[in-house]
Amino acid sequence: MPDDMLTGAPVLDLDPYALDTLREPWGFHAALRDTGPVVWIPKYDMYAVGRHDELRQVMSDYRRFTTTGGIGMSDIRKPGAWRSPSPITELDPPAHTPVRAAMNRILSPLIIRQWREVFTQKAEALADRVVEAGEVDAVKDIAEAFVLDAFLTVLGVDFSPEEFLVIGDMNFNQQGPKNALFEESMRQAEPIMARYQAAIQRENILPGGFAEQILLAEDRGEFAPGTGPLQVRSFLRAGVDTTISGIGHALHYLARDPAQWAALRADPGKAKPAFEEAIRLESPAANLFRTTVDAGAEISGLHLKGATKVAMFMGAANRDPRAWDDPDRFDIDRNPAGKHVALGAGDHICLGQNIARLEAECILSALARRIDRLELTGTPEIRLVNTLRTLKNLPLRLVA
Ligand code: HEM
Repeated sequence: MPDDMLTGAPVLDLDPYALDTLREPWGFHAALRDTGPVVWIPKYDMYAVGRHDELRQVMSDYRRFTTTGGIGMSDIRKPGAWRSPSPITELDPPAHTPVRAAMNRILSPLIIRQWREVFTQKAEALADRVVEAGEVDAVKDIAEAFVLDAFLTVLGVDFSPEEFLVIGDMNFNQQGPKNALFEESMRQAEPIMARYQAAIQRENILPGGFAEQILLAEDRGEFAPGTGPLQVRSFLRAGVDTTISGIGHALHYLARDPAQWAALRADPGKAKPAFEEAIRLESPAANLFRTTVDAGAEISGLHLKGATKVAMFMGAANRDPRAWDDPDRFDIDRNPAGKHVALGAGDHICLGQNIARLEAECILSALARRIDRLELTGTPEIRLVNTLRTLKNLPLRLVA
């Protein structure tokens, strides 16, 4: 590949958002890693990283790669920005630090542990129902049914679960290019946007959830005035579709590998590492962005021009052979937590990671205690979304 004269980075003339690539990104990921530590993708006037080492640097070094341009493809600082910045994900330290500290108090490990009982009850009841049904679409009947119920309950937001998925498509398409997927998801979301916006406003937040705690923290002056509802929105954007994706992919890998399912049955404590391995391999938050600071940024001997987007492909880094042995193998004993970048890295590392893990642990272990075998009864499809990697369906027979 020729070097780009403007940037010094090798050019990768591929479209990461082509539908075939969204379905099967592995060829693109390999080309991205093999072309260079950072590449230039002309179609979108952006840099991209897919190697584990460089991706971690871009993700975590705000002095070179800022979040204030937005974690999506468009620069939210430019006129006509399509939404207001997130008051947590799109702030660099030092502005980010007190916001994050206040959130860590609201979502302390002690508080999250108290939700175990709620999640366990919901997981056990759902597992009984699906075992009784025998044949299910594990995305709709297990992953979506469980997360939409469990997470929205502890958050305390009253919004129709089905409509929520439409909003999720919109959010994760908006983070990428303005292509046909984006246009279609905007069209689908338009009739429900007003209800969604209303659901995160102060007067509609349900008592007892952590959304209420966010608003109380705003009252105490821990967040900038007026940003409480936007904070709640950040949780809805970040916490629902990603966890559904992780649980769906975990069930898919376990269904394809009866020995690993048997290992999980023998020790349901392996539910957490199984989930961790599934999100390493499939990386639900498939692609996020940073922006080079105005002066430009040095990385791996290349000088990148300033104020330019850098796309991070987490799925590529999480299968980078430079970082992982036998990277494509699903192995519930690998336990890649802390090394994979599916949950981010650095100051913005996922705030809800222990909630996601707890949800996954409760539902996967409830299923493992009841089900001898998971049998695929059809070929699962990918839900095509620009920056989210998730299954559309997963036809399974649950043999108790
Ligand atoms: C498998 C499930 C999940 C995945 C794959 C995931 C992924 C991520 C990633 C990659 C980031 C870093 C974003 C960046 O650096 O630009 C992040 C941040 C974040 N996540 Fe998650 N997430 C998951 C579940 C959740 C849940 C359940 C919640 C809510 C309780 C949540 C809330 C957040 C928030 C608020 C941030 C922003 C933190 C900050 O900017 O300081 N996530 N997540």
